[in-house]
Amino acid sequence: MILFPGEGDLSLVHPCREMRVGRWRVACIFQTAPACGPSSSGAALRLAEDLVADVLGVANHTVRVATLLPSGRPIAAVSGQASCPTVSVSHVRDMYGAALSFDGQVGIDIVCPHEGTASLQTFFTPEERAMLPQHTRHWYASLWAAKEAAYKAAGLDIEFQPLRVHIRDLGPDRFQWSVSGPHDRVAGAGRLAMVGQHVVALAVTRRAGKGGVGDECREELEKVSACF
Ligand SMILES: CC(C)(COP(=O)(O)OP(=O)(O)OC[C@H]1O[C@@H](n2cnc3c(N)ncnc32)[C@H](O)[C@@H]1OP(=O)(O)O)[C@@H](O)C(=O)NCCC(=O)NCCS
Repeated sequence: MILFPGEGDLSLVHPCREMRVGRWRVACIFQTAPACGPSSSGAALRLAEDLVADVLGVANHTVRVATLLPSGRPIAAVSGQASCPTVSVSHVRDMYGAALSFDGQVGIDIVCPHEGTASLQTFFTPEERAMLPQHTRHWYASLWAAKEAAYKAAGLDIEFQPLRVHIRDLGPDRFQWSVSGPHDRVAGAGRLAMVGQHVVALAVTRRAGKGGVGDECREELEKVSACF
């Protein structure tokens, strides 16, 4: 059975400048990791900068993507302004990827279906396990990638607890999700695709706060962008 039809695949060569995830618009880009080179963490952030520059049509040197501490969530600044778009990155041993959204808060996750995905079952709720159409490593990888992408998109800046991330309506190329935090519950839509041998999940929800940045971290974002 082919779980992920070719038309759902994303390219390792060209960025996808516009795709729909639920009602939100998302762009994404992927790259294979060279055997030797910069750390995959740094390379993924630079790839996110390339994507923001490409989609906005601005020079690369005006874009900076940095990690917001202590949560670990990446944020983008353009010409020193930490505003839009929202960005997310993911890296595995041989590949990294980045996603952005102007009208939503985005999360991306890459999972290699060949790397021990059966053990992930522990982190699935009974409802999620019942939803899996087949117990194959591709479905485990898809569900896990969906959870991690949803956690990142939720932007709650809490510890990642897989059982608090709920995936519904998982299909070969889409899903719905919600994340319950101590003070809030965030929900959104997701897409699944293959990039080479890897499963990729993209999750999006409404942007937090007026300008898309949560008020609670606006001050910190301004400090970060002042360093650029
Ligand atoms: C989100 C997480 C599960 C992803 O792990 P993973 O699938 O193994 O790794 P991925 O490569 O797919 O994603 C890692 C990237 O996600 C991003 N990320 C990390 N924390 C994030 C968060 N809270 N929200 C959104 N994105 C986050 C970072 O850019 C990170 O890159 P880095 O590791 O190079 O810094 C893991 O990074 C995590 O547990 N983060 C939470 C950290 C935490 O507990 N912070 C304190 C609580 S606020």
